[in-house]
Amino acid sequence: MKIGVLTGGGDCPGLNAVIRSVVRKGTQEYGFEFVGLRDGWLGALRDKVVPLDIAAVRGILPRGGTILGSSRTNPFKHEDGVARIKDTLTAHGVDALVVIGGEDTLGAATELSRQGVPLVGVPKTIDNDVAGTDYTFGFDTAVGIATEAIDRLHTTAESHMRTLVVEVMGRHSGWIALHAGVAGGANVILVPERPFDIDQVCGWVKNRFRTNYAPIVVAAEGAVPKEGHVIVQDRALDEYGHVHLSGIGEWLAQEISRRTGTDARTTVLGHIQRGGTPSAFDRWLATRFGLHAADAVNDGAFGTMVALRGTEIVRVPLDETRGRTKVVNPSLYDEFEVFFG
Ligand code: F6P
Repeated sequence: MKIGVLTGGGDCPGLNAVIRSVVRKGTQEYGFEFVGLRDGWLGALRDKVVPLDIAAVRGILPRGGTILGSSRTNPFKHEDGVARIKDTLTAHGVDALVVIGGEDTLGAATELSRQGVPLVGVPKTIDNDVAGTDYTFGFDTAVGIATEAIDRLHTTAESHMRTLVVEVMGRHSGWIALHAGVAGGANVILVPERPFDIDQVCGWVKNRFRTNYAPIVVAAEGAVPKEGHVIVQDRALDEYGHVHLSGIGEWLAQEISRRTGTDARTTVLGHIQRGGTPSAFDRWLATRFGLHAADAVNDGAFGTMVALRGTEIVRVPLDETRGRTKVVNPSLYDEFEVFFG
């Protein structure tokens, strides 16, 4: 059997660990051959197919990014996309795909699977917002990076007695903000799931100054004021209809300064959260996902995605996850309110 592997959407630490483990297990245990499709669905549309064997995946376990490249290409936005993908697979004798992606890439995979493309999905994203799995790899690394940044910001904030706002990634969900904010001892955590009241935020900030500590405010890029809109960098839409977020951190710093009469600055962590070597947990999870994806292909379990449930790796029908985003549960967020202010 010949298997094509692709990585789509925003990259994240651990993609190479999946590629390595699916190729190792598929080759050694099942005698599969592999090829890589470059740059996500773009490679399938444009016939950008590269050899992928055990030699090609040696040494990549600790490397961030993806040796196959990635893009936010949506095959359904390209003329004859499905037919072109099928042609590429036929031309290279590819029998099935392993598709490593977040909700967009896996959403396209779900539709392609319905239209007869045999494939198995592997969920990834630093945002941890893919429905059907307890965790995605990439998330733990991003939380570690954001937590270290918050630790560092505490000391400089206190030297100058000013507020430091940290903007982290998280378009629809506040998982990174919540986990890193709690781990880093933030005084305010703002997530997209809970529109915030700027007066309350300023109240928490003032309260923190009263106890002679400097406030740290962690905000997900998709956090939104109760009477306002999400703040965007530019309005151009990608092929999945997303705008480029970022700006809420700067908006918060300005509002806090203006309303409290105290100094406030912003740090935007941006793509630092997506780069570099994966954490041990992400390497572990990504490796397990790759091993189980090879098993799923061998079993002909197409149209499914491997997922983490508790400590078990299970197979979830892709159809069940389509169009669902895993968001922060309000009661989980409320658990930490005692630390605000
Ligand atoms: O989907 C993961 C993610 O990192 C989001 O948190 C963020 O909004 C987006 O990607 C940024 O994408 P890009 O790198 O395409 O600007």
